[in-house]
Amino acid sequence: MNDTFLKACRGEKVGYTPVWIMRQAGRYLKEYQKVRKKVDFLTLCKTPELAAQVTIQPIDAIGVDAAILFSDILIPAEAMGMELKFSESKGPVFLNPVRDKSAVDKLSVPEPEDSMGFVLETIKILRRELSGRVPLIGFSGAPFTMATYMIEGGSSKNFLLTKRMIFQQPDLYKELMNKISQTTTAYLNSQIKAGAQAVQLFDTWAGMLSPDDYRAYALPYVKEVISNIKGQVPIIYFVFLPKDKIEERAKDILKRASSARGHIFNLGHGILPETPEENAIALVEAVHKFSKR
Ligand code: CP3
Repeated sequence: MNDTFLKACRGEKVGYTPVWIMRQAGRYLKEYQKVRKKVDFLTLCKTPELAAQVTIQPIDAIGVDAAILFSDILIPAEAMGMELKFSESKGPVFLNPVRDKSAVDKLSVPEPEDSMGFVLETIKILRRELSGRVPLIGFSGAPFTMATYMIEGGSSKNFLLTKRMIFQQPDLYKELMNKISQTTTAYLNSQIKAGAQAVQLFDTWAGMLSPDDYRAYALPYVKEVISNIKGQVPIIYFVFLPKDKIEERAKDILKRASSARGHIFNLGHGILPETPEENAIALVEAVHKFSKR
């Protein structure tokens, strides 16, 4: 069993720096493309056998040290009552963005077992099929990042509508964030119960807030979610840094982290569909080689 990832999570000594890559199951992999030709992205997420199959593909193909559940951070928003579409050109789109009180009131706090049972089933299949080869990471979007998609209706550049709600309708924003936080907490707990061995919270867009606004409007909800997570699993909180800061080369990152225990190599942007599969293999090999103790 390769438990380097879990050891690093616990801050224990490891023989090399473990690595996994965001979107490691994705369009750059030939095997993934074969599956995607047959079904659209959301259907793939909602078909446990297929979602499990593509989760395992990068373990075999590029040799990463952990599997990450194949799903999307926007699945729980759909379960709350949002209409989600993935467009090839625009990425995720919500047809009914949340911008006023009646929209927030309409959102539910779903039981994960009822509305996201397919995710839990995927996790159960994966634990069986991975049979201890590498650990399985579950995940959810952090409340602020979820809220940006739900308010803006999709990806955004300036997050104007989100900021407008924060500053012009603070009570409504709070109400929305409370519903998202409760959904997120229940969702992560259900993933852990189903077999996730670590969970990651993605706060991709938290960097769009000033440090003070982050502390006031994003961090309290992250803390609430984390403090309500049951079970002894590592929790990883991920915030994007500004683009120019994350574009460091693998070696530089490893050099700077060489004295730190618990370092896990990851790719901030995720892997692009255009990335040659060989390059992904080379990255994983380089991290393992240059970090050997
Ligand atoms: O391999 C993995 O990383 C696990 C699965 C995973 C996906 N999305 C699959 C995916 C995870 C952990 C995510 C998280 C996610 N999704 C985030 C947070 C991390 C980040 O990237 O900042 C966000 C913001 C999303 C929302 C989302 N989903 C966007 C913006 C897009 C469009 C981007 C694109 O490449 O088209 C997606 C789609 C998506 N999520 C794909 C995959 C493999 C591409 C789907 C396809 O066309 O096959």
